[in-house]
Amino acid sequence: MKVKTTVELMREAARVARLAGLRIGLVPTMGALHEGHLSLVRAAKVQCDAVVVSIFVNPLQFGPNEDLARYPRNFERDCELLTKEDVDLVFAPSVEEVYPEEATTYVTVEGLSDRLCGGSRPGHFRGVTTVVAKLLHIVEPDLAFFGQKDAAQVAIIRRMVRDLNFATEIIACPIVREPDGLAMSSRNAYLTPQERKSAVVLYRALQEVERRFDKGEHEAKPLIAVGKEVIAQQAGVRLDYFEIVDPDSLEPIDTIRSTALVAVAALVGMTRLIDNVRLSPSNPSQTT
Ligand code: PAJ
Repeated sequence: MKVKTTVELMREAARVARLAGLRIGLVPTMGALHEGHLSLVRAAKVQCDAVVVSIFVNPLQFGPNEDLARYPRNFERDCELLTKEDVDLVFAPSVEEVYPEEATTYVTVEGLSDRLCGGSRPGHFRGVTTVVAKLLHIVEPDLAFFGQKDAAQVAIIRRMVRDLNFATEIIACPIVREPDGLAMSSRNAYLTPQERKSAVVLYRALQEVERRFDKGEHEAKPLIAVGKEVIAQQAGVRLDYFEIVDPDSLEPIDTIRSTALVAVAALVGMTRLIDNVRLSPSNPSQTT
């Protein structure tokens, strides 16, 4: 496995792979890798000949009072895990390499970027789309892999790729969960043992909504009320949002007639966690 730390060297390595006729897959991450990230790497290994994993804690997607400084970083362990997965290339640039001084160009997907997490984290999705656009330009992958865990991120990146004619196909992979249902996240490391127990309430609330949906309740309002009630009963957990939206436009839905995204964000102690499930009227709901 080769590690590239500059844009120039990464470009060169990707170019060599492309000229050799290899199908390139990119898995963008912020490191502190867990099984969720590794599931994307494995999907990329299956569908591509050369897999590039980027590890970059992107300051542009953190708000001024967020956890940029304490975000978990463990580059050596990440590299060990990626070596075991037989990854070909790691792109691990510095902040200065990605954002040269006086960089003033951003990529914004208007509208969608203000919904769900965009509402409570202004500027977050602009940071995500700007860095992902850069990564797609630098690596020029055939496929790029993202987790459905960040469902709004997937919708926004898909829109950006379509609107700006990127040649990359975006692949969304299912959510990987802990045995008790908590969605895996690098931020789970912040949780105290008590908070870790409480955190599973996000998934329990989503499951309760699924149950009601399967029993025939297809109106968003009562379903949202059910989800909110489950969260409210858990001490130490403060709801940010509980919404049912169209998975592509992220617009709220009143009556579920086609696939809907149920998305929740909550503060467990000081840690902000997100989770989601999809509901589909034609199939019994499937939790991913
Ligand atoms: P990060 O949080 O490190 O996540 C990297 C990728 O792993 C994302 O596509 C995310 O959705 C996916 N992922 C995280 N937890 C997952 C889980 N439990 N199951 C499945 N996939 C999971 O998301 C980011 O980084 C950044 O915003 C990034 C896209 C790298 C841009 O900076």
